Amino acid sequence: MLNRLKNLQLLIGNTPILKLQDDTINLFTKIESQNYMGSVKIRAAIYIIQEAIKENLINKNTTVIESSSGNMAISLALICRTLGINFIAVIDPNINSYYEKVLRTLAYKVEKVTERDSVGGYLSSRIKKVKELCINIPESFWTNQYENINNAKAHYYGLGKEISEYFDELHYAFIGVSSGGTISGVSKRLREKHKGIKIIAVDSEGSSIFRNDFKKRHIPGIGSSFTTSHVKNSIIDDVVIVSEVNSIIGCKLLLEEHGIFVGGSSGTCYIAIKEYFKNNMLSGNDKPNVIFISPDGGSPYIDTIYNEDWINETYMQSLINI
Ligand SMILES: Cc1ncc(COP(=O)(O)O)c(C=O)c1O
Repeated sequence: MLNRLKNLQLLIGNTPILKLQDDTINLFTKIESQNYMGSVKIRAAIYIIQEAIKENLINKNTTVIESSSGNMAISLALICRTLGINFIAVIDPNINSYYEKVLRTLAYKVEKVTERDSVGGYLSSRIKKVKELCINIPESFWTNQYENINNAKAHYYGLGKEISEYFDELHYAFIGVSSGGTISGVSKRLREKHKGIKIIAVDSEGSSIFRNDFKKRHIPGIGSSFTTSHVKNSIIDDVVIVSEVNSIIGCKLLLEEHGIFVGGSSGTCYIAIKEYFKNNMLSGNDKPNVIFISPDGGSPYIDTIYNEDWINETYMQSLINI
């Protein structure tokens, strides 16, 4: 089975790092939409599947199951297609219409939960559904991005290594958090070479990862209804929380100021950087080297964060509900 993944491996990683114009810092971003299936998540998906095959947890009769807000699911769907095995995606209403269409094309089955969990998100409902499916389907395998150590390891060996080797000196990395696999693996790798680097976690307002916040969120990919072991095991220097409206502004600024068309979590990180360096004055004359990861591209968000009608409807409704 592992041989079948070889062509896919050629389409993953070595994504570009772009330097963006900025007056106060040397600002860089890693464009993960250049990976196959358009996001950072294919790195974690293929590594988790590959290691599970090696450990005989997956064979040709296995049904792979995962809860995802989109990127992980479409990556796993493609990988399972390549392997000729079934994949069931457990999604929720926040998924982009584009991702949902891709999934309904590539996955064996799509299960959409509609019930919000006790903190107003969908994650716990999705996981409940995954557990039910695992009980009812013989020879099922839950990739479990939230707790599977191979999620973080994928980023230690892939994304983290690539960023670390690009820089002689790196002072700050801003990383959006959901499952925490990215921040866990990347931060571990960066700290090995770049002593004194500051790892800044970026989260969405209403997410319960870093504080007890309960608010409806609409932008997939960033934030979570609970704190995973990946996050608990990461050494994080600071956390910046960004409202969804500001995330959208971040996406628009990236497009207007730099011609970069990216997804919601990238815009969230861009605003986090602007706020962070406004509040934390830099000392010394040298500009610090700062990177943020852009986990996916803008196209899947064309009907949401790049659509004025959706923005007005979504956030006006939130204001009315307050
Ligand atoms: C668009 C996007 N940004 C950020 C993340 C966060 O990555 P992680 O789950 O590794 O914390 C994800 C994860 O799905 C994502 O899809």
